[in-house]
Amino acid sequence: MFIKLKLTDMVHEILKTKIKEGDIVVDATVGNGYDTVFLAKVVGKTGRVIGFDIQEKALNNTKDKLIRENLEGRVILIHDSHSNIDKYIKEPINGAMFNLGYLPQGDEKIITKAETSLEALRKTSSLLLPGGFITIISYWGHEGGIEEKESVEEFLSNLDTKKFITAKYNYLNREGCPPIVYFLQRM
Ligand SMILES: C[S@@+](CC[C@H](N)C(=O)[O-])C[C@H]1O[C@@H](n2cnc3c(N)ncnc32)[C@H](O)[C@@H]1O
Repeated sequence: MFIKLKLTDMVHEILKTKIKEGDIVVDATVGNGYDTVFLAKVVGKTGRVIGFDIQEKALNNTKDKLIRENLEGRVILIHDSHSNIDKYIKEPINGAMFNLGYLPQGDEKIITKAETSLEALRKTSSLLLPGGFITIISYWGHEGGIEEKESVEEFLSNLDTKKFITAKYNYLNREGCPPIVYFLQRM
């Protein structure tokens, strides 16, 4: 059987090898909650997922999904920008997911932006425990998407190699603006 290479699935498979039961992780862009539900299952009953989104609609969709799956006790949903992560999280974390772009089936004008995404990435990477991991999927076909993608790439490229390892995965033969995945791991 032919299985289509899907970036979101690949990111989940990699994260399953990095995140374990009891971990504290962040979903920086909750959206429709697919990643939040995934993370809640991986961290188990003793772990925590802290999720951010600026749209109430996204948080409500996610809350419904979590209730249906009986996972709501493992997740704290915060209605604020991920760039304010330091107001809510003071303890070290094991990992984080960023899924940059707009809410699928939502308002395509409400998008992540270079400045706030960068601030959030800077703050989140400083919260990471040794071995901690951040994945970033950049959907960059929208207005401001190129600028956001380039600033994420510049930030990751210039991190101290003694402290972090960063990498990029992108399609080579897909037309349009195919998503790009970035990885960051604290040494
Ligand atoms: C591509 S979607 C995320 C998809 C999600 N991971 C999922 O599994 O469905 C991007 C989300 O980022 C949210 N967003 C935009 N700017 C944000 C910000 N500054 N802080 C937190 N979330 C933001 C949008 O509201 C949108 O829901």
